[in-house]
Amino acid sequence: MIDYKSEIEKLKKEKNAIILAHYYQRGEVQDIADFTGDSLYLSQIARDSDADIICFCGVHFMAETAKILAPNKKVIIPRFDAGCPMADTATYEDVLQYKKNNPDTFIVSYVNTTAKVKALSDVCVTSSNAEKIIRNFTDKKILYIPDKNLGSYLRKKYNLELETWPGFCYVHDRFDLDEMLAVKKENPEALMLVHPEMKIEIVEIADFVGSTKALLEFTKKSPAKKFIIGTENGIIHQMKKANPDKEFIQVKSTFSCFNMKKTHLADVYYSLLNEMSEIKLPPEILTAAYKPLKLMFEITEKNE
Ligand code: 13P
Ligand code: SF4
Repeated sequence: MIDYKSEIEKLKKEKNAIILAHYYQRGEVQDIADFTGDSLYLSQIARDSDADIICFCGVHFMAETAKILAPNKKVIIPRFDAGCPMADTATYEDVLQYKKNNPDTFIVSYVNTTAKVKALSDVCVTSSNAEKIIRNFTDKKILYIPDKNLGSYLRKKYNLELETWPGFCYVHDRFDLDEMLAVKKENPEALMLVHPEMKIEIVEIADFVGSTKALLEFTKKSPAKKFIIGTENGIIHQMKKANPDKEFIQVKSTFSCFNMKKTHLADVYYSLLNEMSEIKLPPEILTAAYKPLKLMFEITEKNE
């Protein structure tokens, strides 16, 4: 029987590798990671790291983003089949066609897009910096790819001329307002924290909206003792660790991203051992996809 935890530790040292894990990963995978975080934070770590190998425990677009930001490092993803169905709703061909038909439209891509779609985009955003970034482009005609929920939220809040791609996250979009109101009615003292991939009418009744990292930080700072968590259940692992005295209500135990949960410790071990599955991207995509990410970081990190 392989002791995955200690073997992973040995491999990390031998190969000068780091493990990054998104907050939606299984608890045991988050616990062996060098860094856990949201998509923005993990991409900053990948960009700034001195490691030779980055083992990205997340979904495919996250590992691709790490590769775009650290093209000289070996980026591996333990489960190559861990995709994001929302990212896959925006194909390169369709976005290219849109761009040809609408040459004046400014293309804002959520980080949940493929590298090829980023290569067609003007700027990228994540759930934690979307508002800060969009505030710089309120004079433009915008296409927001691919999350119609976050896009609609931005359009309404900033009164934008913004068209949304019809994509959505099957995990977050599954919930309706009545369901959330019913949980709130049962727990009137609890604060409702939601990810902006939820439907806009739910985001509007929430006590706080933010990226996974922002939600976690909120639970640490808030004096409240009980929270209704409107995002993928994996984040509750970190919330409980950071706040052992507080209570977290999962709206549904099925509020789970199937792709994020594909990665087990065994996958991390074999991926490090065999240095697979490696993310490889053509040089022209690496160069073109870097531009909207670079602009995203310039705006995000200004005056931080
Ligand atoms: P974060 O940017 O909050 O990490 O979210 C990524 C994601 O895939 C949400 O579903
Ligand atoms: Fe994609 Fe939704 Fe899973 Fe996030 S939770 S990776 S948006 S499918």
